[in-house]
Amino acid sequence: MEKNEELYRIVDALMQEGKGLLAADESDGTAAKRLELAKLPNTQENRRAWREIMLTTPNLEEFISGVIFFDSTIRDTASLGMPFADLVAARGIVPGIKVDKGLVLVENFGEETVTEGLDSLATRLREYHDLGARFAKWRAAFTVTPAPSDEVIMLNAMMMARYAALCQAAGIVPIVEPEVLYDGEHTIEAAQEVTEKVLVWTCDVLERYHVDLKACILKTSMVLAGKKHERSSPADVADATVRTLHIAVPHTMGGIVFLSGGQEAKQATQNMHAIAKLGTQPWRISTSYSRALEEPMLKVWAGKEENIEDAQNVLAHRAHMNGLAQKGMYDESKDI
Ligand code: 13P
Repeated sequence: MEKNEELYRIVDALMQEGKGLLAADESDGTAAKRLELAKLPNTQENRRAWREIMLTTPNLEEFISGVIFFDSTIRDTASLGMPFADLVAARGIVPGIKVDKGLVLVENFGEETVTEGLDSLATRLREYHDLGARFAKWRAAFTVTPAPSDEVIMLNAMMMARYAALCQAAGIVPIVEPEVLYDGEHTIEAAQEVTEKVLVWTCDVLERYHVDLKACILKTSMVLAGKKHERSSPADVADATVRTLHIAVPHTMGGIVFLSGGQEAKQATQNMHAIAKLGTQPWRISTSYSRALEEPMLKVWAGKEENIEDAQNVLAHRAHMNGLAQKGMYDESKDI
């Protein structure tokens, strides 16, 4: 058997046509912002109820191939006592885990950040594997303005390479996520320049550290003008994004998934659709959204028992729309 055969199978399970990932990996702190949309305080009980509503949504497995958990959720159980990781695995959805420990400032580099979490990572990965995780995520973040320094891009790339190699040694598929932030007034050209450099360097360092790209998934931002700039059209986003991927990402990469980054839910769907409409690419491409999947359902739920079914329908609908968009078959007139 080829060394990473099992990892390739996991990549195949994640990168299925018409399906995307659900990034339900908000830290317990960040969960406060989501629960605010449902007008709920950020308690352990509310975090569990929210995740349980999402993960028991009927037919979710038709459009979602993997779910990324945060540490406290993968250790948690749904109300009937089943661990969340087992609950999704029983539905044919691959459980994943966010393993980085967040961003910290890099001394002497202003507001630039590096991602922490390598200490004891090998031990934690063994534990997460025992808990059912078959893929992991590590996120670094870069602003477009000011543009990141070469030193900090390189520092993050090296951290991601070490993380990815440790994951593969532990039988876990790494998702490497160098996010280029959507916040700001920057142009699409400025976003393209930063994204290209970050992706070129990240992929280069992954290869230098002998990460098996076939057993790895890249999670990236779409290339688009900043949130405070006039909105980029889906055609422009698709063109700039695919051009950047062609410049930066080796064709051996197991898959590429997009984060939504604060785009509106429909905007994120339209942009995925426009990318798919450009035709077959060397990589399998899909979505790994958090906010663009979760925010609409949280608003409908509003923390009320009687709204749960409607909230689940909204989540399934968005996942379905993104699944159609991934195939280039999204019809906006049928999107409520
Ligand atoms: P958003 O889709 O909300 O950007 O989240 C994706 C993610 O996983 C960020 O790390």
